[in-house]
Amino acid sequence: MRNITLMPGDGIGPEITEAMVKTVEATGVKINWERFEAGADVLEKYGTPLPDHVLDSIKKNKVAIKGPLTTPIGTGFRSVNVTLRRELDLYACLRPAKTIKGVKTRFENIDLIIVRENTEDLYAGIERQIDADTAESIKRNTRGASERIVKFAFEYAVKENRKKVTAVTKANICKLSDGLFLEAARKVAENYPQIQYEECLVDNMCMQLVQNPEFYDVLVLPNMYGDIVSDLAAGLIGGLGVAPGANYGHDLVLFEPVHGSAPSLKGKNIANPTALILSAVMMLNHIGETKAADKLYNAVIKVIEKGETVTPDLGGVNSTMEMADAIVEEIKKMSSGFNLFEKAKLELYEN
Ligand code: NAI
Repeated sequence: MRNITLMPGDGIGPEITEAMVKTVEATGVKINWERFEAGADVLEKYGTPLPDHVLDSIKKNKVAIKGPLTTPIGTGFRSVNVTLRRELDLYACLRPAKTIKGVKTRFENIDLIIVRENTEDLYAGIERQIDADTAESIKRNTRGASERIVKFAFEYAVKENRKKVTAVTKANICKLSDGLFLEAARKVAENYPQIQYEECLVDNMCMQLVQNPEFYDVLVLPNMYGDIVSDLAAGLIGGLGVAPGANYGHDLVLFEPVHGSAPSLKGKNIANPTALILSAVMMLNHIGETKAADKLYNAVIKVIEKGETVTPDLGGVNSTMEMADAIVEEIKKMSSGFNLFEKAKLELYEN
């Protein structure tokens, strides 16, 4: 039995987590979920939105999955998501944006990988109020962090047989900080002659992505551009409800959807569970449960393709749990098909 840290999060988090756990368990994989709360809900009890026992559990288990966590806007505590990434040095955020058959979009055949630097840039949290009417934030990029994120993108490209890596910056304006990122990207790219390397400014990239998304393959970006372009890429494939992700550190991985806590959907049981379930597919692949991952992925795709039991963001009328139940039914069908096939094979050997 594999121990995995699970943070349901807040907002729609608990609803989609219930759906994810149900569908993962339907594949037959045995997981002992170590569940923890974080965020505003535990602030009063522990004096921090991210108690040490949560970090300890992730460090011990090496694999975690979480729902979204709300960050107060403008004031209040620092984002738990950003703190998690920094505390655990989860430096690489990997967000695939792949067309899902059955999801209505303007484009077909999108297959993008967004690799976002996760630990620095404007998210380093270096801000100060200079006077009542002036505030500033420092954008900090370091050579070490820039080189390791670009290396991650190229290594991913090699492993997954990808053809091209595009470094996305605003180095014409942020000449030093993004200039340094670009310098690092060029240096790392030299070690991967088999992968095409390109550069694009982030504003142009946004236009290119809404016009010709099929021209792009792996994109590597500093933190803030990565955050923004991830949502854009999610929009290309049908919205945040279907966009999964993962945050990689040296030996830890935290899986989570791209989307946030969607406060307006909270408690309505209509949030799309797909993004979190597809994040779980990535997690199952990571822990070597590839058969379970394939089953779960195919079941999700089947349910979306049929379009009979999907949530409102996908044009349906169903609830989060009804969609999860439909996915479970597909897994059961696949499992019984698999068993019949296995039985036939056994009988063949016996005869
Ligand atoms: P959001 O991602 O929560 O919502 C943006 C839009 O997408 C909304 O219209 C929402 O209804 C829709 N949406 C999101 N997830 C959906 C789903 N599963 N099914 C159907 N529709 C879905 O972004 P927003 O509103 O900017 O942020 C809300 C809160 O979430 C903020 O406190 C923010 O800081 C936090 N957040 C947390 C993240 C995390 O935990 N990793 C990531 C992004 C935002």
